Amino acid sequence: EGPDGSGKSSLVPPLAAALAAGGCEVVTTREPGSTPLGELMRRLVLDVEPPIDRGGRADALLFAASRAQHVDEVIAPALARGAVVLCDRYADSSLAYQGAGSGVPMDQLREVQRFATGGLVPDLTILLDLPVEVGVARKSAEITRFEAFQDTAYHERVRAAFLGFAAAEPDRYAIVDGAGDPETVLAGAV
Ligand code: TYD
Repeated sequence: EGPDGSGKSSLVPPLAAALAAGGCEVVTTREPGSTPLGELMRRLVLDVEPPIDRGGRADALLFAASRAQHVDEVIAPALARGAVVLCDRYADSSLAYQGAGSGVPMDQLREVQRFATGGLVPDLTILLDLPVEVGVARKSAEITRFEAFQDTAYHERVRAAFLGFAAAEPDRYAIVDGAGDPETVLAGAV
């Protein structure tokens, strides 16, 4: 997990390789995406043209629909056969973005996540934390329409929310400084 531009997508391949070198089957996956419905949802949610105004609740349900399919089709079967699943974003992204960012009530959002995931919670969540301006600058070349709608205050709320989740669940969360170079970030995550 992490704010925009925190480097999750760059970290996943080398981290998966490190896990696989340890002898486990590794399944890498991302949200939104990773199933036919999820990839369709990704285009709908992130890059629809012309842009359609949506509220946080609508976004929460769209992301949750994609997540439900993702759990059923990809994550649960992989876990059932003993694989390690490395997922780029999951339910806490909805809590951070739609909850802290867009103001959807957190308790309701947590219920939606339970419904979407069937209560499946990661064993470990690696939070790549970095200052908002560093992340946004990294992403400026590939900003999607979804992200273009959000201002700095929104991203600050997202970052603070992730840090709050990590503080509340220190056993599940590991915070890694996402501002460093790729090798340092990988070393932190491993
Ligand atoms: P993504 O393309 O994975 O971007 P990044 O490289 O920053 O991770 O994520 C797309 C955007 O979707 C990102 O701004 C976060 C947002 N998002 C939500 O708002 N809610 C969610 O539940 C998920 C999974 C993503």
